[in-house]
Amino acid sequence: MEVKIICPYTHEELYERPDGLFNNLGINKYRKVNGAYKVAPEENYTDNFGLEWNTFQKTQIDKYNGTSVSRNRFFFETKWQKDSLGSQNILEVGSGAGRFTQIILDHTEAHLYSVDYSNAVEANFKNNGPHERLHLFQASIYELPFEKASFDKVFCFGVLQHTPDVEKSVKCLIEMVKPGGELVVDFYPIKGWYSKLNAKYMLRPITKRINNEYLLRIISKNINWLIKVYKFNKTIGLGFLNRFLPICDIDATFPKEIQHIKEWAILDTFDMFSPAYDNPQRLESVKSWFEIFGMKNVKAEMIEYEKGLVAAVVRGES
Ligand SMILES: C[S@@+](CC[C@H](N)C(=O)[O-])C[C@H]1O[C@@H](n2cnc3c(N)ncnc32)[C@H](O)[C@@H]1O
Repeated sequence: MEVKIICPYTHEELYERPDGLFNNLGINKYRKVNGAYKVAPEENYTDNFGLEWNTFQKTQIDKYNGTSVSRNRFFFETKWQKDSLGSQNILEVGSGAGRFTQIILDHTEAHLYSVDYSNAVEANFKNNGPHERLHLFQASIYELPFEKASFDKVFCFGVLQHTPDVEKSVKCLIEMVKPGGELVVDFYPIKGWYSKLNAKYMLRPITKRINNEYLLRIISKNINWLIKVYKFNKTIGLGFLNRFLPICDIDATFPKEIQHIKEWAILDTFDMFSPAYDNPQRLESVKSWFEIFGMKNVKAEMIEYEKGLVAAVVRGES
């Protein structure tokens, strides 16, 4: 069954046309630009992600980098069976450049409604569109342009910690799930008091205020020596010092088989330092919000989806 698209502000029904979303009076409410319906202001707190994903459009997409890291992460974490998704409507919130969009379109027959608040949706369209089962929207998790309880499956990977109010984000996702449907999220976990004791959280108060293009240039210029020091520390048994080095944790973030780590390192280091919000969460808090907002059979666990790569995952049924 078709998903009913609505204006998140007036709640009137909207219809998808090649050049925009129209109401029943034929008025174009939201334009379609470069493959995505624009239901959000062009500039907002996720502009860093727009730059990130349009610069590194293909880097983390399985079909371009030759790995299966996104496919493994998607199916291990959701536990969804490919063959059962055929006639279903899936909502993806915070799709970035579309690494999981690609997995759904290429490995299932599901209809996908994919949303990101930044203009990363344009990178997603270049990677995955046009496609008859893909509907792309630039919209916020807090103002989703869909009737409530519309989706068989909803997932939101790597996004919650980057939203200003994580509890409200969880509530908004749950509202989208049909009775009998499922929601799966993954996010940065708080593991203990030491979780924020590292270069990232020490420097973020400054780096998140730096102009995005400038920050990306600083990181790119310094990445070679940072990688060398990171590796050297590991070789001499001082790997624990790397938490104070202003570079992403290469061994805990990258799939082992990628050859050229420089591009991934710049991407993930920019991803550490540029976001306006970075609020890691306790597994138990997210689990309890799922339950408070009415989800059943809620499971919270750390999942190793690839050797050495672990995610905090919460899953529930409506
Ligand atoms: C770290 S990226 C993850 C992207 C993708 N899921 C992946 O794993 O490659 C986080 C994404 O969340 C999006 N995001 C942040 N706040 C959002 C909001 N309020 N509504 C929708 N998307 C949001 C950002 O624009 C960004 O693309």
